[in-house]
Amino acid sequence: MSGRVNLLLPEVRANPYPTYAELRRSPVCQVDPGGYWVLTRHDDVVAAFKNPQVFSNIGMRVATKPAWLGHNPFADSMIGMDPPNHGRLRSLVNRAFGPSALARLEPRVRAFADSIVARLPEGTPVDFVDAFSLPLPASVIGELIGLDPTQHHLFKRWADDLTSISAIGPRPERETPRMEEIRATVKETEQYMGRVLASRRVEPRDDLVTDLINARVDGESLTDTELMNFMFLLLVAGLETTIHLMSHSVRVLMERPDVLERLRADRSRIPRFLEEVLRYEPPVQAIMRVTTGDTEIRGVTIPKGSPVALMMGAANRDETHFAGADAFDMDREGTNNLPFGHGIHFCLGAPLARLEARLGLEALLTRFARLTPAGPLKWNQSMTVRGPVSMPVVAYAE
Ligand code: HEM
Repeated sequence: MSGRVNLLLPEVRANPYPTYAELRRSPVCQVDPGGYWVLTRHDDVVAAFKNPQVFSNIGMRVATKPAWLGHNPFADSMIGMDPPNHGRLRSLVNRAFGPSALARLEPRVRAFADSIVARLPEGTPVDFVDAFSLPLPASVIGELIGLDPTQHHLFKRWADDLTSISAIGPRPERETPRMEEIRATVKETEQYMGRVLASRRVEPRDDLVTDLINARVDGESLTDTELMNFMFLLLVAGLETTIHLMSHSVRVLMERPDVLERLRADRSRIPRFLEEVLRYEPPVQAIMRVTTGDTEIRGVTIPKGSPVALMMGAANRDETHFAGADAFDMDREGTNNLPFGHGIHFCLGAPLARLEARLGLEALLTRFARLTPAGPLKWNQSMTVRGPVSMPVVAYAE
């Protein structure tokens, strides 16, 4: 491949898969912005996830706390840590996302989904990101970390800003207004979360924030900084990702009315449909690492200290792993967990995200028989997550 590919060009953003196919032919190379080394073949991505000794999660910290930003509690959360610190913090929140916690949450998620779908207009265009994809994950994450349900758009803006740090890159040539906006968002989010933490200390509730305040690691409670880092992690990891899963699902249903009809006839196929959406259009396209030593892969040496992007978006279309990888085929056999990562940082919220998307689609397909595009999509800008920021749709009951 000659010259570096820029993964954030509008045409690549709109459809990155032909570029990924090219990258898989020179599977260890560098891209822009940021000069990331990318791994694009399925086996290489999985092997890197399994080897945190060489592919360190400090890469997540470096990517999300560049010098121009200076401060970002998300970057300092456990997603930017290696063992043993990572394990110590992760064990604290595991239970909050386990099967019994999820079973308790399910009726609430279903009630949110039903009322969100009941409010959708019939036969007139509406931005589905705003009206369908956003409110469900925002309501759920709001319950978990105590956010005001009337402020969903604020949280979406924060999550958007915090996931677009990687699009600016580590060393921009000059200061831009966008950089100041993101710095202001970090401050605003921190002040809001600080108020939530302070109010739970005075008035404990039956929620995750109160559980975190009361948690003990090796006999000690979490510091205020550690609590703040967790809140940022849950907001960023839990919101933007799930919104994109819901939007990609709707996109597929618009392109494939035959699939929509099948799902309406048999709702038990929805989980299988979602697994294929996660493979075909993974909300998280890349996860960042940094190499702890010189590392040779397929004859190419990645030097010590290099930023590396594990490209799940490309790995999920690897023909050597998925026959007919560029086709959407909901009858594909087997489980593919790669969209949620692999190894010690495997997504804590995977079962919750699957639950939200399933109940959201069940409600949508109960009310509507047809979904059609009503205008062009606008794509977000990020090296990690990919999804529309707006998506005009008309929904019909017949
Ligand atoms: C479709 C939706 C989602 C996708 C595709 C997704 C994807 C991922 C991926 C790829 C990672 C691995 C990061 C790494 O290896 O460095 C991750 C980690 C994580 N996710 Fe998710 N996620 C989703 C939804 C959620 C939700 C709903 C929550 C919680 C409310 C959540 C919480 C987390 C947390 C806390 C981590 C960090 C785990 C650790 O560092 O040990 N995610 N997610």
